[in-house]
Amino acid sequence: MLADKDRIFTNLYGYQPWNLKSAQARGDWDKTKDLMTRGQDAIIEEIKASGLRGRGGAGFPTGLKWSFMPKEPRADRPSFLVINADESEPGSCKDREIIRHDPHKLIEGALIAGYAMRARAAYIYIRGEFIREAETLFAAVQEAYDAGLLGKNAAKSGYDFDVFVHRGAGAYICGEETAMIESLEGKKGQPRLKPPFPAGAGLYGCPTTVNNVESIAVVPTILRRGAAWFSSFGRENNKGTKLFQISGHVERPCVVEEEMGIPFRDLIEKHCGGIRGGWDNLLAVIPGGSSVPLVPAAQIMDAPMDFDGLKELGSGLGTAAAIVMDKSTDVVQAISRISYFYKHESCGQCTPCREGTGWMWRVMERLRTGDADISEIDTLFDVTKQVEGHTICALGDAAAWPIQGLIRHFRPELERRIRENGGALEAAE
Ligand code: NAI
Ligand code: SF4
Repeated sequence: MLADKDRIFTNLYGYQPWNLKSAQARGDWDKTKDLMTRGQDAIIEEIKASGLRGRGGAGFPTGLKWSFMPKEPRADRPSFLVINADESEPGSCKDREIIRHDPHKLIEGALIAGYAMRARAAYIYIRGEFIREAETLFAAVQEAYDAGLLGKNAAKSGYDFDVFVHRGAGAYICGEETAMIESLEGKKGQPRLKPPFPAGAGLYGCPTTVNNVESIAVVPTILRRGAAWFSSFGRENNKGTKLFQISGHVERPCVVEEEMGIPFRDLIEKHCGGIRGGWDNLLAVIPGGSSVPLVPAAQIMDAPMDFDGLKELGSGLGTAAAIVMDKSTDVVQAISRISYFYKHESCGQCTPCREGTGWMWRVMERLRTGDADISEIDTLFDVTKQVEGHTICALGDAAAWPIQGLIRHFRPELERRIRENGGALEAAE
C-alpha cells in the first residue's frame, strides 16, 4: 500500500482548507521559480523520464505530448494549454476532488506545464454541473493572481502566463479534446477529425496541448521529488501513483491515491472494506469508467490495476474508475443503461455513431426484457464491430465496447432471458 509520505494529493478529503495559505503550508508553490529555471526542455525531459501517462483515460505519454509543441512559437500564433476538467465519464470523480480540495496543485501545474511547452495561457474547461467546484477554482485562480503567482512575471519567473476558467454547459462530448476546443471557440461542441492533432492546429488554429486535470496536478510534485521517485511506483510502462475511484457494491466507496498496478483485491480490501456480502458475491467490475468492457469476478480479482494489466483482460484502465457489481446486479440492465447514455450523448455528426448507438440501445433493451431473437446477439456483436473504429471520435468505441464485454462474458445470461420468454425459444430451436 502506498505510504502516506508518498501521496501527492495530501488533501484529497478536504481535511484542510483548499486556500493558498493552506496549500503553501502543504508544500505547493514552494520555490516554483526554481523549478522553472531548470529550463523548458529539462522539464519536458523530466516528465518523460517519470513515465507519466495521461490520466484522462487514453494514457498517452505526457512528456511526449508536450514535446510536439513548437519550441519557438510565432508571435501571431501563440501556443495554448487546455486543461480538461470536463470530467463526465460515468464512474469518474477524481478531478472533481482535486479541484474541490487541492486546486493550487492544478494551478501551479498549469504554470509549470504551460511554461515548459511555451504556452501563453491555460484554459481550464470545467464541467458545467461542477458549480461549487467552479466557484472554488475561480477563487483559487484569483488568489494566485493576487499573490503574483500568475499573470505578468508569474511567480517571479520572468514568464507571463494567464489562466482562464471556462465553464461547460452539460455536454459529455465536450470532454473530447477537439470538441472542447470547438466549444472554447464558442462553437457547437463537435469533435474534429484528427489529424491534425491539437499540437499542430488546436485552439483558434494555434498549437495546443490538451491535458487532464490529474496529469497536470501531479507535475509540480514530480519535479520536486524527481522522475526517479515517481517511476519507482508501478511497473514498466505503467508508472507512478494514480487516483482510483471505486463505486458500487463495496462496503466503503472512495477515491484513493495508490500505486499503479495494485491488484484489484488489495485495492478493495485496503481502502473499501471489501465487497458487499464478501468476495463470493462479486459478479463483475467495470474497471475504468463506463467506456471500457466489464471483467467477470474470477478474472479481475488478482488483476494489476494498470494500463497493460487490464488490456490483457480485454478491458482498460481508462480513468481508473472501478464500478463494482455484486450478484444482485442486473448486468444486462446495467449495460443497457450505459448504451442509453452513449445514444443520448452522441453528437450525431457521423452515421455509425448517430444511428448505431440508438440501434444498439434498442436491441439491448429487447435483450434486457428477453424480447429479442437469439440470432440478434450475434447481429448486435457485428454491429458493435461496425461502429468500433469507424467514427470521428472515441465515443463510438465507448458505446461498442461495453456491449462487446457483456456478450463475451454473459452470453448465457442473455440466452437465458430469451429462452425464459417463451416466444424466443422457437427462434433458438
Ligand atoms: P486518443 O488515444 O485519441 O488520444 C489521447 C491523446 O493523445 C490526445 O490528446 C491526442 O491528441 C494524443 N495523440 C494520440 N495520438 C497522437 C499522435 N499520433 N500525435 C499527437 N498526439 C496524439 O484518445 P482520446 O479520444 O483523447 O481519449 C479517449 C479516452 O478518454 C478513453 O479511453 C476514455 O477512457 C477517456 N474518457 C475520459 C472521460 C473523462 O471524463 N475523464 C470521458 C470520456 C472518455
Ligand atoms: Fe459525434 Fe459520435 Fe461521431 Fe464522436 S463518434 S463525432 S460523438 S457522432
